This record gives sequence, C-alpha cells and structure tokens, in this order.
Amino acid sequence: MSSKSATSRRQAFRGSTLHFLDDPADADPAGSFEFHDDGLLVVEDGHISKVGNAPELLPTLARDTPVTDRSGQLIVPGFVDAHAHFVQTDIIGSHGQRLLEWLERHTFPAERAFADPEHAREVAEFFVTELLRNGTTTALVMGSVHRASVDAVFAAAAARGMRLIAGKVMMDRNCPDDLRDTAASSYSDSKALIERWHGHARLQYAITPRFAPTSTPEQLAGAGRLAREHPDVYVHTHIAENEEEVAWVRQLFPDRRGYLDVYDHYNLLRRRAVLAHGIWLDDREMERLAQSEATLVHCPTCNLAMGSGLFDLPRATAAGVRVALGTDVGGGTSFGMLRVLDEAYKVAQLRRHNLSPLRAFYLATLGGARALDLDGRIGSFRPGNEADFVILDPAATPLLARRTSAAKSLAERLFLFATLGDDRAIAATYLMGKLSHQR
Ligand code: GUN
Ligand code: ZN
Repeated sequence: MSSKSATSRRQAFRGSTLHFLDDPADADPAGSFEFHDDGLLVVEDGHISKVGNAPELLPTLARDTPVTDRSGQLIVPGFVDAHAHFVQTDIIGSHGQRLLEWLERHTFPAERAFADPEHAREVAEFFVTELLRNGTTTALVMGSVHRASVDAVFAAAAARGMRLIAGKVMMDRNCPDDLRDTAASSYSDSKALIERWHGHARLQYAITPRFAPTSTPEQLAGAGRLAREHPDVYVHTHIAENEEEVAWVRQLFPDRRGYLDVYDHYNLLRRRAVLAHGIWLDDREMERLAQSEATLVHCPTCNLAMGSGLFDLPRATAAGVRVALGTDVGGGTSFGMLRVLDEAYKVAQLRRHNLSPLRAFYLATLGGARALDLDGRIGSFRPGNEADFVILDPAATPLLARRTSAAKSLAERLFLFATLGDDRAIAATYLMGKLSHQR
C-alpha cells in the first residue's frame, strides 16, 4: 500500500467515534459498542479501513493522508430509515385523522400526482436531499402505484451514490380508480423494475403490496410468485397499524387466521420481508414472525400522530422478532431519525419500559442494517464496510451545547442528541467516504 494512488484514496476523520458490535439489550452493554473519545475513522476507497484511538492511529498513516478534523463532534454510522414513502413528502404534517381516513383524504390525492414523471423527479430529488440532511444514508421506500415513481427515486439515489431499497406500490382494490393497477400489470411492472434496478449500483428492489386491504387475493398471489422467483429481493408492506384496519382485514379475508396469516398464505413472509408497524399482533403472530425472520418496523412519530397505538418493543424483542426503526414519512412527522429516537423513547415510557440511549442508537444504525440484512455492508465501522457515516454536532443549538457540556457519560450525550437534536445536529453526512451533505 505504498503507491501514491493507494495513499491518495485514503482519508481519515478525527472526532469521537461510536459504533455498535451487537445489540446492547442482548449483550453486556460494555461489549456491544466501541467508543473512542479522541477517535480516528480511516476510510480507503469508500470503505472503512479502521477505527481506533487517534493518537495511536495517526502515526501509522502515510504523511500525505488527508485528515478532516471533527474534534468535539461525534462520528457514527449513517442512520437506517427502514420505512418511508417518498411520494408522501408533500403531505407531511397534515392535521387530524386516523389511518383509513387519512389515506382517503391526503394520501391518495398526493400519490395521484405521481402519474407525472416530472413531478416524481422533482419530489425524489427533494426527498433524497432531505434524508441526507437528516443523517439517513440508507432507506427502504415505497413509491406510488406508478412505475415511473420508482424510476425517479432510484435515479435520484444513484446520482448521490446512496444505498436505497424501493418498490412500486401494488394496489388493485379499495382505492380510487385512477390509482388502481391489476394483478397482471403489478406483477409485470414490478418484474420489469427488478430487472432494471435490483443490484444496480447500491439499489435493491422491494416487492410492495401497499397493505392487505388494497390488494385482491390474485394480486397477493402474484406478489408471492414474484417473491419466489426473486429470493433476494425484499418484500415491503404494512401490518396491524390500527384497530379499524385489523378488523377490515378480518372481513376481507375471512378464511385466514388473522392479518399475518394473509401475508403468510401468499408467501410474503421471509427474511427480507419488512412489515411496518405491527402494533396489534397477537402472541402467536409474534412467534410466527420471529420464526419467519421477517422484520417489523417501529414508526413512533407516525403511530403517535395518527393515534394508532404504542408499539411494544420489549415484547417484539423478547419474541425474537427483528426490529428496525422508520420515519414513515409522510404519516410520520419528521425526516429525522433523531426525532424517531425521541418518540421511541416516549412510547416506551408509556409502556413502562426504559429504552436506553445506547439501544436507541443501535436500532438506528447496526440494528436497522441487521433487520434489512445489510449488516455485511453498512451499519457499523467494521473494516470493509461501506463508509456511510454522519457527524453529529453537540454544539448545534445553544440548548444542546449547554446541556451537553454538563453531560457526564456517553449515554447522556446520546440521549441529548435524541431529545434535543434534529437536522441542525447533523453537521455532515458522508456516502462511501464522500461528503454528501454539509450543514
Ligand atoms: N397503510 C397503508 N398505506 C399506508 C400509508 O401510506 N401510510 C401508513 N402509515 N400506513 C399505511
Ligand atoms: Zn407507511
């Protein structure tokens, strides 16, 4: 590694460094993370080379290695947002309804506009920029029913070098006529999108039936067939978010044992199947989810805004269910995973559970990567991983600076970022070692 070109591709970042090796809830917290107060993150060719103590590592680097000084700031792996709708960017913060009415009143009209590919391009560009401004470097995203919406969001992510999983919504009943596809067209459109995008650059596809009520049994069967034909693509949908929705699914699928069994019956449960919410699942369903290795996504900002309910994180964890966190933009009220951590803490409080700051940051990084089956590439500073990371600034606001200066532990500092932090606390976001957002 002594050639000039090799050294010129190497760069280093000095600041406090934190990443997780395991779930702090499952392991001795002391062994679950690696923290260096005066740390150095070394990146080579867009990948993590090493992380350690700056005073020890600096003398080992070639003298011409560029070092970006972020002393006083915290360097963590980029956040993983495991559930968002880019086509709902413009309805974030719509006042006042529960899920089913909100879909009719706000969501369907907004998604109708994505019949225009130019609109889709403009929104996709804004959406991806906003994720990076909030420190999110990987997201799992729903498009609209229009195939071109997914082309737009994949193109926007690819242009930034961003890791993104997305899919075209499949929806052939219980929605406006002009937002309806068919079992046959949703199968062939999804298949064409898989062939065009899955595995291209940092992009992966998700087969995306919106949720059981908006798909006929024929459409779900087609989605299951696609899943069988493409074992490494994702499945992305919603489940058991709200009590009215759960009752509706029982009426629509009287032959199934419950909501989860609808997806199970159509071959949509497996590793890389990602189901948003899961607030109203029973113990048998939790057990089956764990066995299937599917993932639930906890989206607290959305669940609180829509009055859907309080996700039981310890129950899901105890059942062995894989869990990630999501913004659920635009039902969710922020693009920021720091805001999600804040609300996840408060939801846990209402369930008489104390979510530790370490576990919260784990869930937003390595936990999200594991739940999406991406921990071999992102989520931690393991050598060889893709160098997606975020610089958090504890001096971002006067209040954050004041409170952080009195913090006595790493956990306290993290908790203050979650409680008081937002996009202002994201000083910079890097994708594959490249500066992709700077405040
Ligand atoms: N269930 C079905 N569609 C949606 C959606 O767009 N947002 C949320 N939060 N839940 C859903
Ligand atoms: Zn959603």
